Amino acid sequence: MDLQNLIKESLEAKKLSYSPYSNFKVGCALLLKDGRIIKGSNIENASYPLTVCAERSTLFTAHNLGYKKSDMVAMVLCGDAPSYISPCGACRQVISELYPSDAPIYLLNKDNEYIVTNIKELLPLAFKESDVK
Ligand code: THU
Repeated sequence: MDLQNLIKESLEAKKLSYSPYSNFKVGCALLLKDGRIIKGSNIENASYPLTVCAERSTLFTAHNLGYKKSDMVAMVLCGDAPSYISPCGACRQVISELYPSDAPIYLLNKDNEYIVTNIKELLPLAFKESDVK
């Protein structure tokens, strides 16, 4: 996997962020097994709660293009936070539904340094499909 390229793609995605209210741009790049990279950014709204975070934008795009959990390899998330950006609770729940539990999630800080984690670490004891069915 070309992590530096995936990071670069996430930085490109960040530029497309629509965030006139918070002025906090977030970018996400998702690598698929077929080599495709899906990008997404946070999209805000004058009705603030309608905002969709970069992670959810990206995963919903992937799903709408026909990709499943099993097609996903790695995800990079970037933002201009001093510390490593961390997905919000709502995004953790969506990631746990649509992204493999042990696939890497790279979290960048504003200097493009990163840590790597996965959704098992970010959302232990997740509420999941098997709890509902
Ligand atoms: N945001 C994301 O897109 N992803 C995160 O992981 C954290 C927060 C967005 C939501 C909102 O548009 C802005 O960042 C400030 O909260």
